[in-house]
Parts: sequence; structure tokens; C-alpha cells
Amino acid sequence: MENYSKRVLVTGGAGFIGSHVIRRLLKHYPNYLIVNLDKLTYAGNLQNLSDVDSLPNYRFERVDITDADAIRAVFANFQITDVIHLAAESHVDRSIEGPMDFVMTNVVGTVNLLQIAKDYWKGSDNHVFHHVSTDEVYGSLGDEGLFTESTSYDPRSPYSASKASSDHFVRAFYHTYGLPVKMSNCSNNYGSHHFPEKLIPLMIHNIQHNKPLPVYGKGDNIRDWLWVEDHASAIDAIFHRGRVGESYNVGGLNEWTNIELVKFLCNLMDEKLGREIGESEKLITYVTDRAGHDKRYAIDATKLEHELGWKPSILFEEGLSKTVDWYLENQDWVEKVTSGSYQEYYDQMYLNR
Ligand code: NAD
Ligand code: TYD
Repeated sequence: MENYSKRVLVTGGAGFIGSHVIRRLLKHYPNYLIVNLDKLTYAGNLQNLSDVDSLPNYRFERVDITDADAIRAVFANFQITDVIHLAAESHVDRSIEGPMDFVMTNVVGTVNLLQIAKDYWKGSDNHVFHHVSTDEVYGSLGDEGLFTESTSYDPRSPYSASKASSDHFVRAFYHTYGLPVKMSNCSNNYGSHHFPEKLIPLMIHNIQHNKPLPVYGKGDNIRDWLWVEDHASAIDAIFHRGRVGESYNVGGLNEWTNIELVKFLCNLMDEKLGREIGESEKLITYVTDRAGHDKRYAIDATKLEHELGWKPSILFEEGLSKTVDWYLENQDWVEKVTSGSYQEYYDQMYLNR
């Protein structure tokens, strides 16, 4: 155990972004022990890590982050030196249906981890607690402007309210107890292993199966999309070289209205599936808007770029094409995660609109 230069606890490592972070850490830092701690909710899937889970420096612990005794045991058993915290309930629509799970995991679970890290690391140095958060904490933009690290918090959905609350607790633990925290707030991610309840993987799935493409409202809401591996590289940079007590915004200046994006995906998939161009667009179905739907998100990542030299590695069109290929080539993964309660949940969500 002591041969490892760091023993990093990654929470939520079986999820979308967490699995990319773990893959990157295992590849780049063979001298670290990487402990993946995940409850395996509907969104967690160990198959996301099947290409790396036999590496000697990887461990998995099935634990709920609200379970204080179990978390304390993990810190002690693995002599955890650092935390990268990604575990969360992450879907806005689910938070509108039922906010309490979001309060429990995102707020109570985060405070639980902070408390245990603070107690475990008491009196020793060189630790990092990196909290991974979202740009949604800043609320909604009008036509102009970008979110910077000094934009006031103004969360509008139960999801973003729970993430904003967790961010406040992370800062409170830094100021009150001197816990060595770092924070990142990222825009919408896309890429492989993304659970098909979020816009891009849901649309890929429905286009492939000739199902309706539910576009909320007029489709004119704007999101700023980033390749998930570029988010993982930003987390790597901030975790290692970011300043303690600081927040860094992460994003790639890549704004799309939802309808533009869905039409782009339709045409891309028409080509890949050998359909006539324009055929999949016929599946677009405008449905009742999301309650409290944030109009526009867009990130200014200048601080991260200037201080740490980070920049995105891939153009959106190329990343999207790779993402579609991944989904078409990984039908077993899609079938596994969309079986069971997924279909029931989606039929219900869709019929409710
Ligand atoms: P995800 O839903 O794909 O994965 C979340 C993971 O957390 C799952 O593996 C799940 O099993 C686990 N989990 C949930 N509740 C848990 C609990 N109580 N105890 C232990 N594990 C639990 O989410 P994601 O999209 O990978 O997001 C990861 C993090 O990044 C979240 O904190 C999210 O707020 C943040 N984030 C996401 C995006 C995005 O575009 N997806 C953008 C910015 C920030
Ligand atoms: P989503 O992927 O849920 O991410 P977030 O709400 O956290 O930004 O949604 C992205 C955008 O796509 C958002 O404006 C809502 C919209 N959307 C649809 O129009 N239809 C859908 O079926 C989904 C899931 C999202």
C-alpha cells in the first residue's frame, strides 16, 4: 500500500464522467492506487471500466456516500490521501420528479465525505479534495455573456440547487477548517458511456430505433458542449496543479441550440446508417417544455487556460461522429443500461409530456 505515491478515492467512478476520469488516472499514473467508490445506482455501470478493471492499481468499493461508517472504513483500509468527488444524482428531469434523492446524495453525501476527509487527514499535509461540479449553479444566461468563476450563484432546478449547496459546503470546509479543496464547474459533457437519458445519447438511441425525438419547448435553449475526455484532462490538471481553495470553469466555447444539434445528429446518422438525408429529421417531435428550463449556458474557461495551459483537444463535429460510432458499435452496453426500469421511466416521462 505504501508503495503508491497517492491513494486516490474517486467517487462516482462507475458513471459517465467518473469512468473517463478513472481510465485517464490509471493510464497516466500507474504509481497511484485508484479506489473507485460507487453505489451503482441506475446510472452506474461497472462495464464502463471493463477495459481497465484488471489493472493492479485499481480497486472497487460498492458504497453509498451517505454511509458514514462505510466511508470511514474505506479511508482507513486504503489510507486515502486524496479525493476526486464525482458521485451525484445528475439528471435535471429526475430532480424535477423527485428532489429528495438529490438532496441526500449531492448535499448530505458531499458533506459526509468532507467531514470524513477532514477528520482522517487531520494533522497531515499534501492532500487534495477535488469537488467536481457544474456550470448550472450559475443559473441561466440571456443572449449575451459567459459564466466566469465570479458569476453569482443562481441555481434554478432542484439538481442545480443541490450542486450549488454542495459547492457552498466545499468552500465552507476550506474557509472554516482549512480542508485543501479544489473545485471545477464544467459545461455539458458528451462522449461514450453517457447514460441515454441525457440529450445526445437519447437522441442517438431514438434515431437508431426510429423512435420520436422529444425536443423540449421550441428547441431554442442553448448548451455549451465539451468532449468528456477533455473534462477528464481538465480535472487531471486542476487536481495536480490548480491552486488550493480555487474554482476553475471548464468549457470549450461550443454553443448549440438543442434543435440545431438534434438536426445535425439526424443528418450525421442518416449518413452512417445509409438513410436518405432528411429521413431521421422527420422523427423530431416538439413536446411540452421542461419546467423552469434554463435558457442558455456558456462557459468562460480563460482562468483554466491561462493558469494551467488546458485546452480542448477535439472539434465538436469530430467528437460527435466518434460518439455516434461508439454507440453503434456498443449495442450490448446500450441494451444493458436501457433494459428494466429505463424503459418504464422513459415511457412515463414521454407520455407525461
Ligand atoms: P452519472 O449520473 O453518469 O454518474 C453518477 C455516478 O454516481 C453513478 O455511477 C452513480 O452510481 C454514482 N452515485 C450516485 N449516487 C451515489 C451515492 N449516493 N453514493 C455513491 N455513488 C453514487 O453522472 P455524470 O454525468 O458522470 O456526472 C458526474 C459528476 O459530474 C456529477 O457530480 C455531476 O454533477 C458533474 N457534472 C456533470 C456534467 C455532465 O454534463 N454530465 C457536467 C458538469 C458536471
Ligand atoms: P440534458 O442532457 O438533460 O442536460 P442539462 O439539462 O443538464 O443541460 O439536456 C440538454 C438540453 O436538451 C436541455 O436544454 C434540455 C434538452 N432536452 C430535450 O430537448 N429533450 C430531451 O429529451 C432531453 C433529455 C433534453
